[in-house]
Amino acid sequence: MESNDGFATGDLNLDEPVEIAPRVWWVGQMIPEDRFQCHPYLIEQGENSVLIDPGSALIASDIVRKIDRVVGVKNVRWLVCSHADPDIIGALPALVARGLHPEARIVTHWRDQVLIIHSGTPLGYWRIEEHEWRLDLEDRTLRFVFSPYLHFAGAFGTFDESNGTYFSGDLFGGFTDQTSLYAEGLEYFEAIRAFHEHYMPDREILAHTLSRLRELSVHLIAPQHGQILREALIEPMMDRLEKLETGVYLLAREDQGLRFLLLANQALSGLTNILIHESRFSAALGDLDQLARQTLGATGLELWARLGATTVHFAAESGYEGVEEPWPEDVEAAVQGAPVFQGTRLVWALYSLNTQQVTGAAVLHMSNPTTLNSAAREVLNQISGLVEVRLEREILERQVEMERTSWRNRALHDSLTGVLNRASMDGVLAEYVARDETRESPRLVLLMMDLDQFKRVNDEFGHGVGDEVLRFVAEALRRALRPADVVFRYGGEEFLACLDDVTLEVALVVAERLRAAVARGPESLPPVTLSVGIAPRRV
Ligand SMILES: [Fe+2]
Ligand SMILES: [Fe+2]
Repeated sequence: MESNDGFATGDLNLDEPVEIAPRVWWVGQMIPEDRFQCHPYLIEQGENSVLIDPGSALIASDIVRKIDRVVGVKNVRWLVCSHADPDIIGALPALVARGLHPEARIVTHWRDQVLIIHSGTPLGYWRIEEHEWRLDLEDRTLRFVFSPYLHFAGAFGTFDESNGTYFSGDLFGGFTDQTSLYAEGLEYFEAIRAFHEHYMPDREILAHTLSRLRELSVHLIAPQHGQILREALIEPMMDRLEKLETGVYLLAREDQGLRFLLLANQALSGLTNILIHESRFSAALGDLDQLARQTLGATGLELWARLGATTVHFAAESGYEGVEEPWPEDVEAAVQGAPVFQGTRLVWALYSLNTQQVTGAAVLHMSNPTTLNSAAREVLNQISGLVEVRLEREILERQVEMERTSWRNRALHDSLTGVLNRASMDGVLAEYVARDETRESPRLVLLMMDLDQFKRVNDEFGHGVGDEVLRFVAEALRRALRPADVVFRYGGEEFLACLDDVTLEVALVVAERLRAAVARGPESLPPVTLSVGIAPRRV
């Protein structure tokens, strides 16, 4: 018998059992020119010994011989079957024929049991899910790690806590020409890749199991196929395996619709997190854009939302803050129906959950023209549902803010002329004064203005014309002032302007301009003249 101190390499005698960990034996047999060797392992526990993944019928006699060399087949009490494939249960009839422990049991999951019974093996079952996923032995406990769909629905691995050996079943298995028992370097990943790409269903499921394995302190991986991994290789192999496109992903390389579905599904979990946890809409959209780039290979994301009479455009250029912009015609046309690809742009409508009306549209830019199958559309609907909830809230908040602004404006502006009213004067002038105080000397000038004999206009032409005149004057003053200045309707026919950052000389020029602007009234209105008083700020 071979004993392996953990460092032995190619010079092991593989015609004999090999001890790969304390009282753990490899009892397989290398089949010449077979790229898919099957490895059963024996945990020596006297008359309660455990055989992990009994093995292939092709090497059954060798397995029996090797078990007999270590502990005797009659002492094999537990037969752990990590799943129900023929390379695992094929050797059972030979073992039964040889005479197992009288109370020998197949240790497995119910999903495997329903298939294993068809092997006709007359053995009882011990189901891991009914025994808290553990089997207590003489000197150790075995823990079972469920790894469903890798690659069988009821697949699991077995962890020997006493020495950190993980019997991984098909996981970490490989197609290889190498007949040495241990993997010697990272090159072995190519063997793992070849097997996993074709036999493991998908990357998500694989990642789930790998994350569970990372929680254990695994020092040795003993797979059912390929080569054993020593500790130094475990982490790098896991890293590589996590990124591998397996099974359905492999299929998706050819099928754009399926690929989109897989990627979108992946995006969905990330998206849920973003939309639930990111409180600012702009930041949530920014994250969403990143996610779409990373998972879908998208090149950008835009959103349009209806807001009152206008539309708001959320795009990366504006940091997704939302800018008022007309809703493009092609987007509008696209959202009338189901999601459509316009070349490389995927456009779809977003609906209000309350009213079922279209509230906006999403546009996803892809690097290549893509098509959607029905399943991908379903995922898109789920994504949309989440975006719609957030968009509706955003629209509501913006509407409230618009209302608030409009009320504020109404309270601060003169309803007849539209310029600021007297009520707003204190607040606005205080801001001008505060700014002026930062200067070395005051440069603020007030112009007090009064229309001459305005009462006569009202008396002669009526109040309707009087109002027209006041509107014209306010507009003329507003236009004649510089952008930094501000004008108020002080009351009746009195106006007040505040000129910022001017000398008295400039203020005089501005005052003259205002007077002239009013004097140049339209012929449709009675002529009026303006008197201006000038008051520079003093400290
Ligand atoms: Fe298998
Ligand atoms: Fe297998």
